[in-house]
Amino acid sequence: MTSTPSANVGVVGLAVMGSNLARNLASREGNTVAVLNRSRGRTDDLLAEHPEAGFVGTFSYDEFAAALTVPRTAIIMVQAGAGTDAVIDELVRVFEPGDIIVDGGNALFTDTRRREAAVRATGINFVGMGVSGGEEGALLGPSLMPGGSDESWTTLGPILRSIAAIAEGEPCVTHVGHDGAGHFVKMVHNGIEYADMQLIAEAYDLIRRGTGKSPAEIAEIFAEWNRGELESYLIEITAEVLRQVDAETGRPLVDVILDQAGAKGTGAWTVQTALDLGVPVSGIAEATFARSLSSHPEQRSVSGSLPGPSATVAATGADADLFIEDVRLALFASKIVAYSQGFGEIRAGAAQYGWNIDLGAVSRIWRGGCIIRAQFLNRIADAYAQTPDLTVLLTAPYFVEALQRAQDAWRRIVQNAAATGIPAPAFSSSLAYYDGLRADRLPAALIQGQRDFFGAHTYRRIDKDGTFHTNWSGDRTEAPATSSH
Ligand SMILES: NC(=O)c1ccc[n+]([C@@H]2O[C@H](COP(=O)([O-])OP(=O)(O)OC[C@H]3O[C@@H](n4cnc5c(N)ncnc54)[C@H](OP(=O)(O)O)[C@@H]3O)[C@@H](O)[C@H]2O)c1
Repeated sequence: MTSTPSANVGVVGLAVMGSNLARNLASREGNTVAVLNRSRGRTDDLLAEHPEAGFVGTFSYDEFAAALTVPRTAIIMVQAGAGTDAVIDELVRVFEPGDIIVDGGNALFTDTRRREAAVRATGINFVGMGVSGGEEGALLGPSLMPGGSDESWTTLGPILRSIAAIAEGEPCVTHVGHDGAGHFVKMVHNGIEYADMQLIAEAYDLIRRGTGKSPAEIAEIFAEWNRGELESYLIEITAEVLRQVDAETGRPLVDVILDQAGAKGTGAWTVQTALDLGVPVSGIAEATFARSLSSHPEQRSVSGSLPGPSATVAATGADADLFIEDVRLALFASKIVAYSQGFGEIRAGAAQYGWNIDLGAVSRIWRGGCIIRAQFLNRIADAYAQTPDLTVLLTAPYFVEALQRAQDAWRRIVQNAAATGIPAPAFSSSLAYYDGLRADRLPAALIQGQRDFFGAHTYRRIDKDGTFHTNWSGDRTEAPATSSH
């Protein structure tokens, strides 16, 4: 039992993420950490294994609240969903107005908005916080994306800055915006992560099948790429995975891993939210659907019975080197599209929900701790520093130059993939999106004509104001009409 409050922060939920975050907090000057878990065993284990952390172990919510100095600050790291709601209910019961409840789980931002409104009504602050970096990030320094009120940020800011990853001297945490803004940005981060991983996987597949190189050889190519403009955590670990040999069979590990990609749903959330907001995130969508396709063995059982192309374009010798450089450039260009689309979704979300999100700050807090950490994020930060209200990220001068440099290679790779029957959905849809942006006129005019024909949905004209309808079933004359979308 604790008698006087001694902890400035508490963690509820001591599975791998919560216990690592608690240890990270405890290791920083000035923090004393109270810990609580639903089942007692995890708390006992943590206290026994890490006496150096000086944890204040508690075994009920009343004890937990009594251990915390005011304003009480609790970070919840439990299974997202019903578990989070159960813990919030308990904390609201034992906390007081002005105290702070932080949900560090992967909650859907709309749940966070609902919870924030309900908890705020009690006078307690509720902060939905995105945490990226997995177990290691939680322990050594994650990228943190807190939402919530300005009041809570005053208390939380110093605590979170003390545990976040450091990138180029700056802690990877910023107050993203109010209520669900932090979880929204974390969701899009994960969506971008899906796209980035899919693009890397397509690059690997194209090189493997296009040149016949082995995983070990491709590992060296990725290691080399990691020394240039593609430098990133994901490229780095790709080389590591490709280099790994299975101890049991002696084969490359990548060849014995079942080729069905799992997903925990944040990619799908990003796409569903983008559909609701009406913003294109085709790269993220393709990446999400590519995982779905991989995970349907009953659909994939037709492999081998479907006709393929006659062409088997193989790049060998010097051609192989050119092909690989083309793949690198296509990967970079597609990656620019994925990030541009992701930041477009954050802009749209901010406009929809009234969040004042500093996109440059978001790109800076992703430079360390998180899975998509990359040099490249500095270029995004530069772009928003130059033009804070940039509508389409990829139109910033650095990206335009990169796309100029990459685009012939990008087109060759998409052509080659189509000709040889190697699936490259994220590469090709990124290029199609780019060409859609470039187009002076889109066939959307025809779609409007079709919509007017079958549903009298009306259309606008390029040469005069107003809304019009053509009398398709009669004399086909045009008349002004009331807009009907
Ligand atoms: N793993 C990652 O890389 C990662 C990265 C970022 C964010 N996250 C998020 O961090 C959170 C924690 O992840 P995790 O992998 O450490 O743990 P987890 O497996 O998602 O959840 C296990 C924890 O939740 C507790 N819990 C479950 N239902 C509960 C309930 N109804 N009431 C109270 N506690 C309940 C469990 O308590 P018991 O011990 O009593 O069962 C245990 O402490 C999740 O929201 C996850 O999405 C994970």
